[in-house]
Parts: sequence; C-alpha cells; structure tokens
Amino acid sequence: MRQVMTIGLALALSLANVAQAQDARVGQETYERYCAACHGLEGSGHGPMRAVLTLHPTDLTALRATNGGTFPLARVVRRIDGRDPLVSHGSPMPIYGGFFEGRDVAMKTDEGQPLLTSQPVVDLVAYLQTLQQP
Ligand code: HEC
Repeated sequence: MRQVMTIGLALALSLANVAQAQDARVGQETYERYCAACHGLEGSGHGPMRAVLTLHPTDLTALRATNGGTFPLARVVRRIDGRDPLVSHGSPMPIYGGFFEGRDVAMKTDEGQPLLTSQPVVDLVAYLQTLQQP
C-alpha cells in the first residue's frame, strides 16, 4: 500500500514538473486557435485574415533570423500579453493579456533578467521557437 502511495506521489510530482516546463504541443494548440487566422498555420504571416488587414501580420518564422540569430524572447512575450506599448497604440494585433492570465511563471531572458508571464504564453513561445528558420 505504501509503495502504491509512493508511486502515486512520484507520478503527481512528475506531472507537476511537466506543467512547469515549456510544452510546445500545448503552445501549438493555442497558436492554431488564436494566432493562425492572421499569422498562418506555418507562421509565415499568410493566414486567411491577411487580406483584410492594413498592416500585414509578421512572419513569425523569421523572428530569430531578423534579430541577429537570437530569439527576441522578451519582445515576443510583451507583444503577446499586451505589455508592448505598440500594441495598445493601434496595431491590428489583438491584446491577449486577459486570455492568458493565471498563475505567474518566470522565464529567463538571454540577458538573465526574469520575465513574468503565464503558462499559456510560455508554451506558445516554446512553439514559436520550434518554427524558427535556421
Ligand atoms: C487579427 C490578426 C492577428 C492575430 C489574431 C494575431 N496577430 Fe500577431 N500580429 C498581427 C499583425 C498585423 C502584426 C504586425 C503589425 C504589428 O507589429 O503591429 C503582428 C505582430 C506580431 C508579433 C510581433 C513580431 C515582432 O517582430 O516583434 C508577434 C510576436 C505576434 N504578432 C504574435 C502573435 C501570436 C503569438 C498570436 C496569437 C496569440 C497573434 N500574433 C495573433 C496580427 C495578428
């Protein structure tokens, strides 16, 4: 009996750890639901909404390439959660801060600064990182 409980506890702990980590598969689901209409299923910026937007959606597969080879983590996170002032000043890109509220999760930027966001944004960013062109 004790052994069963130990196994159960170990399982619960490992599940908790998985939830903490970046999960690109969950991120992909979020992306397809909330982002693909504009940025396209492959992230190239050619979603079905592109035609009706005055400003074209960014090619999200080129985020790293157009940033000197480093993924612009802090910029992307602020962009998605609406902390980037550009978004609140008339970009067609919706603000998702409210959607993704919840328990705070800290991400580490390349500069070593912790950046607070939520688990759905962490997963979404993990997925965006898998889309980057070499
Ligand atoms: C209604 C259309 C639309 C939707 C939906 C949308 N975006 Fe955007 N997005 C845009 C447009 C247009 C731009 C480029 C114009 C601008 O920068 O304001 C943009 C820009 C961005 C940028 C900035 C790229 C950079 O170089 O800094 C990121 C990151 C981004 N989008 C990610 C996302 C993610 C992730 C989602 C889903 C949670 C999403 N977008 C949903 C239209 C959209």
